[in-house]
Amino acid sequence: MDRFVCSIARNHARLINHSDLILQKINKISVEEQGGGSDRQLPNLPPAFPSGELSGRLALLELHPTDACNLACSKCYYDRSSTHIGLDWLVTLLSEWRPRGIVLVGGGEPTLYRDPGGQGGFEDLVGMIRRILPECKIGLITNGTAIPPGHWQQHVTWVRISLDAATPETYLGLKGKDYFTQVRNNLIRYLQGPIRSVGVGFLCTALNVGEVNFFVQNMLELSRNQCRDQPERLNVQFRLFRTRATGRGAHPSSERELVCSPLQLDELKRAFDRLNRVLEVRTFLHQATNWDKLIAPTAESMKPSRFCFRALVFRLLRADGRAFPCFAHVDEAEYVLAEKLGQDSATYVKESEQRAVPFFFREGSGCGEQQCPLMLESHLFGSYLEGGLVDLPDRAKRSPFF
Ligand SMILES: C[S@@+](CC[C@H](N)C(=O)[O-])C[C@H]1O[C@@H](n2cnc3c(N)ncnc32)[C@H](O)[C@@H]1O
Ligand code: SF4
Repeated sequence: MDRFVCSIARNHARLINHSDLILQKINKISVEEQGGGSDRQLPNLPPAFPSGELSGRLALLELHPTDACNLACSKCYYDRSSTHIGLDWLVTLLSEWRPRGIVLVGGGEPTLYRDPGGQGGFEDLVGMIRRILPECKIGLITNGTAIPPGHWQQHVTWVRISLDAATPETYLGLKGKDYFTQVRNNLIRYLQGPIRSVGVGFLCTALNVGEVNFFVQNMLELSRNQCRDQPERLNVQFRLFRTRATGRGAHPSSERELVCSPLQLDELKRAFDRLNRVLEVRTFLHQATNWDKLIAPTAESMKPSRFCFRALVFRLLRADGRAFPCFAHVDEAEYVLAEKLGQDSATYVKESEQRAVPFFFREGSGCGEQQCPLMLESHLFGSYLEGGLVDLPDRAKRSPFF
């Protein structure tokens, strides 16, 4: 396995040219490794890409309709630009790929989408997806500063609003604009609208970790006031800020400043201990949030381990029309909150297992508490494809990686 990972890192073109062979190897490895006794309990997974009904059909597309954005968040992954993908090009790709799920995200802020050919905005984009793919589950990750007009919400299964703060001051410090109250009001409007699952994102950094406690209380109050009869409609998705893997182990100091210190994480753990003592808060934490994801790195689960993550393989389509195969690490076996596509949880778990590849990295290949080598793999694909557009529809037919 080590040899296999190293050979990918040395020659990433192999991943593109020999993806079918690599796929076979991954499936074989997953079987061998699972039998090999890990110090982390791995579920018994079916082959990464089963034959039959699901094969040849793209499971998940992460679509960046635009790189335009109205905020300037600290250390946003992406540079802003005025690039928007053409609706006509999208029609071609989606008709070919026929993904079963699409997440509209960015790049930039997806709700600011405008077709460069003058065929409309965000509502038209969602309407087009629905026309071409009547069964496709559509999710939206938005900064929540504005809700586009129109009837598009009835076609969207879930939305996640990146709030990332509990107070206007922290929000302004993180995002450079004073939109906290507006975003919170829009969150309430989403809860009053037709979208079944409304998530609130909180990316936990050294700058906002101190108000997680207040944020939880705030969200609980919102849940009580806005969805008393359907508390499952509101969920909170915490993520811990990690520096990007560079492959050289060095990160810009400005990124490192955002990483929570061990002291802060200890304090956070104590804050959750206190919150968990109150029955109503504990119920909310366990049923509507992934709070334990934040404290995991301070607990035993981050002990050195022979294997680390499972990877979700999905396709990313950028606003400039380039597409990449991507890996995301999935450290929750069930990956329940992260991309809930509106199924009951048993179906969801089954489907997420079908599209997740158990892809193991040994310690020493870049694993660490604050970085993930899977992100490096995605960057390798990215740099390979920097040269320009490839003939995606044809490749899509041949390989589940593409
Ligand atoms: C890039 S944004 C695009 C969608 C939309 N503009 C938004 O803010 O939700 C998608 C998500 O990436 C997160 N994000 C941005 N930069 C990040 C970074 N350096 N590390 C981790 N997450 C980041 C944001 O918090 C947001 O939840
Ligand atoms: S709103 Fe989203 S895309 Fe815009 S800067 Fe913030 S994280 Fe980046």
